[in-house]
Amino acid sequence: MMDDTKKCPVTHLTTAFGAPVVDNQNSLTAGPRGPLLAQDIWLNEKLANFVREVIPERRMHAKGSGAFGTFTVTNDITAYTRAKIFSEVGKKTEMFARFTTVAGERGAADAERDIRGFALKFYTEEGNWDVVGNNTPVFFLRDPRKFPDLNKAVKRDPRTNLRSATYNWDFWTLLPEAFHQVTIVMSDRGIPATYRHMHGYGSHTYSFINANNERFWVKFHFRTQQGIKNLSDAEAEAIIGKDRESHQRDLYEAIERGDFPKWKMYVQIMPETDADKVPYHPFDLTKVWPKSDYPLIEVGEFELNRNPENFFMDVEQSAFAPSNLVPGISVSPDRMLQARLFNYADAQRYRLGVNYHQIPVNRARCPVHSNHRDGQGRMDGNYGSTLHYEPNSFGQWQEQAQYKEPPLKISGDAAHWDFREDDADYFSQPRALFRLMTPEQQQVLFENTARALGDAPDFIKQRHIDNCTKCDPAYGEGVRKAVEALKA
Ligand code: HEM
Repeated sequence: MMDDTKKCPVTHLTTAFGAPVVDNQNSLTAGPRGPLLAQDIWLNEKLANFVREVIPERRMHAKGSGAFGTFTVTNDITAYTRAKIFSEVGKKTEMFARFTTVAGERGAADAERDIRGFALKFYTEEGNWDVVGNNTPVFFLRDPRKFPDLNKAVKRDPRTNLRSATYNWDFWTLLPEAFHQVTIVMSDRGIPATYRHMHGYGSHTYSFINANNERFWVKFHFRTQQGIKNLSDAEAEAIIGKDRESHQRDLYEAIERGDFPKWKMYVQIMPETDADKVPYHPFDLTKVWPKSDYPLIEVGEFELNRNPENFFMDVEQSAFAPSNLVPGISVSPDRMLQARLFNYADAQRYRLGVNYHQIPVNRARCPVHSNHRDGQGRMDGNYGSTLHYEPNSFGQWQEQAQYKEPPLKISGDAAHWDFREDDADYFSQPRALFRLMTPEQQQVLFENTARALGDAPDFIKQRHIDNCTKCDPAYGEGVRKAVEALKA
């Protein structure tokens, strides 16, 4: 995009209300050596704005990079979904992506061992569709009740303000459902070399609804066309020593030189009634659907081709939410997803204000007619004199029943059901993953794990080794040896 300030430079300085600033070098004082005068209006305004520049950082995924791009459909999946974004092969939709680390704060180094956020916003003709995923197909938890604890455990010790290997591994090892994700994070894929060199996953099971109002369960995959590239602990350490912004720099510079990164989008599709038949829980976020059961179906490709003109404006203020869905793409009984449907918009109303949907990067590119009014920071005409209630006798604010989804059968008695009693299979999928690794990759996993266990006490290390042994005796033995070697 052409930079307007370069095209027609405005060089003079005014206050926020347009009055000329007469002197931006010298404060208004009583005499050459005297104190300030309270009537220095520009100084007051300048300092007042300065102390309000920082907004709350995201509670997690605080450090990130973003770019605009284009999604193109390459394969017809209209048999599964009526979402207009997929209505025709060749169709293009504008989008915005933000990639992140998770545990680090806004100023954290990029090349850390951590999962990476992979958030996409598609500006479709039927509203914004967000896929707020990660670079891993599974997650640490099956129940959202533990999500705040997870973030407390991986972030800072309240006393020392240091990251704590003890607290981190104490928490992870007490929740064996985290083991699959922990294995991925400790593997050779645990530190992507750049944001361009990693896959993305919607992770949850979502649903597709087609034109015949039939439901399918769906998982989203985004495969990097740059190839997978990772860093070893030693490489990451050397990079961080020189450059804390290595991911930001890489993405920004690639787009500036016209080397636009690309990802292919695929889906796995499960017919609605298969959910009762598969041997694993299809709505459990700690499990994948084997590709042998549900192969990847190509959908399209996106490329990132434009850096934001202003980082705060577009990246810091971007707001992705799994609740941003469009007709033909919907939710599933995954309880982690359900908690996220509420929690993101809630966080964003706090972080950005109630009218955050009007911030340009978050604004739908199709007409919006939502009947929400007023609120702090309202920027548009606020629907002028249009009447503001429904039902009314004038045809305003009509619901659109044609988009109704087929009913979803739900049953069960309300209780705090313990999923551990329902399905305590924590290890079969990480076992399959471990056995897919080459001996070299397994050794990398052992050594990464031993280093990450750091100064956690022996009983916590042993608990992790026990979990590894339950996964595969060779995994337990490998980590035990690596921990001992490090001690020696
Ligand atoms: C960011 C909550 C699980 C991916 C966030 C934010 C919240 C949140 C409150 C900050 C939102 C903002 O201020 O804009 C939760 C809860 C979860 C959960 C309650 C589980 C119950 C997950 C999972 C994934 C994920 C499973 C991936 C599959 C992300 C990403 C961001 C994020 C990518 C950053 C979005 C951006 O770039 O702005 N999460 N999260 N989260 N979350 Fe989650």
